[in-house]
Amino acid sequence: MGSVGIIGTGSYLPEKVLTNADLEKMVDTNNEWIVSRTGIRERRIASDDQASSDLATEAGRQALRSAGIRAEDVDLIIVATVTPDMAFPATACLVQDQLGAKKAATFDLSAACTGFLYGIASASQFIQNGIYRYALVIGVDCLSKITDFTDRNTCILFGDGAGAAVLGPVEDGKGFRSFELGGDGSGGHLLKQPAGGSRIPATTESVQQHLHYISMNGREVFKFAVRVLGVSAEEALKKAGMTKEDIDFLIPHQANDRIIEAAVQRLGLSRDKVVVNLDRYGNMSSASIPVALDEAVRTGRIKKEDTLVLVGFGGGMTWGASVMKW
Ligand code: ACO
Repeated sequence: MGSVGIIGTGSYLPEKVLTNADLEKMVDTNNEWIVSRTGIRERRIASDDQASSDLATEAGRQALRSAGIRAEDVDLIIVATVTPDMAFPATACLVQDQLGAKKAATFDLSAACTGFLYGIASASQFIQNGIYRYALVIGVDCLSKITDFTDRNTCILFGDGAGAAVLGPVEDGKGFRSFELGGDGSGGHLLKQPAGGSRIPATTESVQQHLHYISMNGREVFKFAVRVLGVSAEEALKKAGMTKEDIDFLIPHQANDRIIEAAVQRLGLSRDKVVVNLDRYGNMSSASIPVALDEAVRTGRIKKEDTLVLVGFGGGMTWGASVMKW
C-alpha cells in the first residue's frame, strides 16, 4: 500500500450569526472584552430543527464532490463529535443514511476538539492496511445546544459547524507523514458535560442544576492548551523527519487567539502561515480544524506540495497533531 492522504474537503456553517453585540444583550459582557481575551467576533448557531447529522451531511456531501467520488464508493464514515444527535444510533449512521453511502462502515468518535485529528489518524490506518479504499471523516459539533447562555464564562466562546475530509490513496510523497496523539484523563474534570450519561442520568434535578451544559475551568484549560499545542506540533514534525522551517501552513484548533499565538511563538512562525477563522466562527470543537482546512483549500491559499501541520487540543484532556504534504 502506498501513501494515504486527504483527496477532498468540505464544510457547512449554519446561517444564523450570533455577534458579540448580540451577546452583550444576553449576559454581562462586552465586545472589547471578548475580542481582546479570545479574538472571537461572531459565531454561527444551528437552528432549532438542525442537529449535528444535518450539518455533517452537508459538509460530507461537499467533500465527496471535491474528491470526485460517489457516496456509494465510501467504505468508512467516522464522525467526530461530542454533540451527537442522540446517544445512539451513532451520528455516523444517520449521516450514512442521509448520504446514501450504503456500503460504509460507521462509527462515532469522542475526543472533543481533537476529534478530527483522532478521526483522520484512525481512518488512515484502515486505508494504509488495505482494508478500505475511501473514508469520510467529519468533525461536527453543535455546542450551542449544550451551552448555558446565561454563563458568560462559556457562552461567548462556542459556535456550530461541520468540516469533512475524504481520505484515500494519493501519489507517493504526498499525504500524511505523521500523527501524534495524546490524552490525559486526569484533566477530564476541567472540561465536561456532567449529566446525560450513566454517571448522572437525566432527571428534573440535573436539568435544574444546569448539569447538561458545558462546564469548564477556562484558566486551567488555557494553561494546558498553551503547553500542549506547540509541543505536539513539534513531536509530529520530528516523527515526519521535518523541522519548523518546513511548515507552509499551521492549522490549529480555533479556541482562543492567545492560545494560537503562544504556539506560533514557540514554533517561530510568521502569522501569514497560520490559518485562523475563529474571529468569524468561534470555537466549533471538532469542526474547527476541518472547516479552516476546507476554507484555505477552496480559496487557493493552500497549494499542491505545501506542508501542513494540523494541531489541536480538547476535552479529555486530549491533544493531537498531523503533518501532511498536500
Ligand atoms: N465578559 C466579561 N468578563 C468576563 C467574561 C465575559 N464574557 N468571562 C469572564 N469574565 C471575567 C471573569 O469573571 C473574571 O473576572 P474577575 O477577575 O472579577 O473574577 C475576569 O473576566 C477574568 O477571567 P479569566 O477567566 O481569568 O479570563 P481569561 O483571560 O482566562 O479568559 C477564557 C477566559 C477566554 C475562557 C480563557 O481562559 C480561555 O480561552 N480558556 C480556554 C478555553 C478553551 O479553549 N475551551 C475550549 C477547549 S476545547 C473543547 O474541547 C471544547
